[in-house]
This record gives sequence, C-alpha cells and structure tokens, in this order.
Amino acid sequence: MPADRLVIAIDGPSGSGKSTTAREVARRLGLSYLDTGAMYRAVAVAFLDAGVSPADTAAVIEATTSAAIELSLDPDERWVRVNGRDVTEQIREPRTAQNVSAVATIAECRADMVRRQRALMDADPRGCVAEGRDITTVVYPDADLRVLLTASPEARLRRRSGDLGGKVSEEQLRDQVLRRDADDSKLVEFQTAAEGVHLIDTSDMTLTEVVDAITTLAEEARP
Ligand code: DC
Repeated sequence: MPADRLVIAIDGPSGSGKSTTAREVARRLGLSYLDTGAMYRAVAVAFLDAGVSPADTAAVIEATTSAAIELSLDPDERWVRVNGRDVTEQIREPRTAQNVSAVATIAECRADMVRRQRALMDADPRGCVAEGRDITTVVYPDADLRVLLTASPEARLRRRSGDLGGKVSEEQLRDQVLRRDADDSKLVEFQTAAEGVHLIDTSDMTLTEVVDAITTLAEEARP
C-alpha cells in the first residue's frame, strides 16, 4: 500500500447529506467511494425477490451471506448488481427502503456486511471514502479521518424529500427517515460521535461548505 493512502469514514442518519458529501469528497481527493447503505439495500432486494419474509431471520441471514454483491467504487458511476442482476434503480424503491431494516437489525447480517465492506475499502491503493452508519465505529475505526454528519429532523426530511423528487407521501417520507433511523439505531449508535470522531452539524450548511470542511480535515489527517 502507498504510504499516502487515505481512508475516510463518514457516518450519519438518513438525510444528513452523507452520500452526496462522501461522493464529492472522493472526487476531489481522487479516492474510491463506497456506499455501504447500497449493499444493505441490495441484500433486501435479493431476499424480497427470493420470496423470503423479513420476519424469517434464518432465511434473511442465508440470503445475505449467499448474496453476490457488486457495486461501483467510482464516485462518477452509479450501479449495483446482486446475484448478477442490475438493481441500481430497485434499491431506491419504497418497498426496498421499507424492508432494509430487516437486514440492518440482524447481527449476523451486519457481521457479513462489515467483513465485505472492509475488504472493498482496502481494494484501491489510493484509498477510499466510505459512508454508512457504523464505518467510524465498526467497519474502519482505524480510518485516517472519521466524521459523523448530523442534521435536524426538519433538515433531514427536507433533503430526503428532495432526493426522492417529491415522489413519496409525507407518511412514507417519515417512515423512510425517522422510523428507519429509530429501528436501525437499535444495533448501531450513529447519532452521537464516538471518541476521535469529528462531529459536523450540516443543518445550516451547503454541500460545498461540508465538503470543504471534510477535505480540510483530510489534508490535516493525511498519513
Ligand atoms: O444510507 P441508506 O439509507 O442507503 O441505508 C440503507 C439502510 O441500511 C438503512 O436502513 C441503514 C442501513 N445501514 C446500516 O445499518 N449500516 C450501514 N453501514 C449502512 C446502512
């Protein structure tokens, strides 16, 4: 591995702006980009397609550990495949969002995801920016820079609504943002920063301001 390899871990709840931010930081610094939420979503598509009930824990674990997941690590390309099938669009559908917590709340599924994510983050010799819920704490606690992005519930609902192009009802939106974060935080703590993790409240910041703040921290953290 080159001595100047740089690994950046970014966590945060839905609507904190972490995907857009992490992608832009990766572009600016010439690093690979890993969207770990897309991996949980791909597994949800796989188990739903296989006719597995989210309540059947053993079957969800089997579907997770046997899923072949491939995804773009290029911040300028967006594609995800599961078991050989392109699911780039399907992972963003409300049905997937409603069922993905079934994967995220099973410890065995998380362990499998963490192992794969760590390997993907190590794949690029230049380094990687990865974003999710447990990257700073579980997947890559030894990252050169660790950041937790937060935002007020109002800002998060507003942003997620924008991401979805206003295509979902108010009720679906609250389910996707607030209910899902409450469920997901049962196994991982991503609302308060662990020791050594930089906390950035993005509620009143523009994307450029957040990206600037992270790239400045990254330059200081460069090994
Ligand atoms: O960030 P996202 O909305 O695409 O995440 C999809 C789901 O996966 C969400 O329910 C949280 C969960 N997740 C997780 O538990 N740990 C991660 N590292 C990434 C996502």
